[in-house]
Amino acid sequence: MADLDDIRDGDNFGLNSPANTDSFYLKGLNSASWGIKNRMSRIFNRKSGRTVMLAFDHGFLMGPTSGLERIDIGIASLADHADCLMATRGMLRSCIPPDNTKPVCLRTDTGTTILTEMNHNVLIDEAEVIGMNAAAMAAMIAVGDPATEASTIANISRLVDIGQKYGIPVMGVTAVGKEMARDSRYFGLASRVCAENGASIVKTYYTEGFENVVACTPVPVVIAGGKKLPELEALELAYNAIQCGAAGVDMGRNVFQSDAPLAMIKAIGGVVHDNLKPQAAFELFNELKNS
Ligand code: 5RP
Repeated sequence: MADLDDIRDGDNFGLNSPANTDSFYLKGLNSASWGIKNRMSRIFNRKSGRTVMLAFDHGFLMGPTSGLERIDIGIASLADHADCLMATRGMLRSCIPPDNTKPVCLRTDTGTTILTEMNHNVLIDEAEVIGMNAAAMAAMIAVGDPATEASTIANISRLVDIGQKYGIPVMGVTAVGKEMARDSRYFGLASRVCAENGASIVKTYYTEGFENVVACTPVPVVIAGGKKLPELEALELAYNAIQCGAAGVDMGRNVFQSDAPLAMIKAIGGVVHDNLKPQAAFELFNELKNS
């Protein structure tokens, strides 16, 4: 029993300060659970409302692609400059020191590689997600692909069930299959399907008319970078996405395949968090690269 001596009655009830009824700072998540909001707040900067996620999950499909040959050397040093790390459990455990406290968006789906047809039909166990201290769970959906659309949407739906139970947000990743059009109608449809199934973040690709994709997706949207572009073009891509309302980036190749990955992630951060224009961010990139 607690010591009952000198129990003091409370007398500081802040009667002139009404309880805060502000809504949550990220769109579409006001009705999410405390756990989901808390984890989203670790991923998305409170001030800018945006995030720079560093994606290095490519190896589960592509093997040791350029820039990811040695994640322990190439990526671990960039991690401090990202707001969130998106990766598989294997690479995190083997190559990222556990004292790195950046939030992790854990890749949860797997199945096939680039050598066969795309089919992500397996999700990792929820105990593994919790054991990896994941701040979010990511899985891809292949909207429009007759062979895998249903199983990948089922994956997202199951992940959201898990996330609701444990307070972990789900990031739906829209695929770009060979047969799929890369336009705002397609990405709007695929992004909306992620949100309709309960995703708290949607990762998709920038395209002309992207403002419509963001508008029809009621939760934060981040963009993938796609194939490596010259640095100025990658910065323009990020800038254009932000101008259309994106809540940040989840970029991989345009960071880790850059000549100067550290300078690049900082320049991307300038665009995402500080509203730098592409040319100013490119000057920052060159300055950091040469310093
Ligand atoms: C694919 C992914 C990748 O992480 C992704 O595409 C991000 O990397 P990049 O910026 O290199 O496109 O989620 O399913």
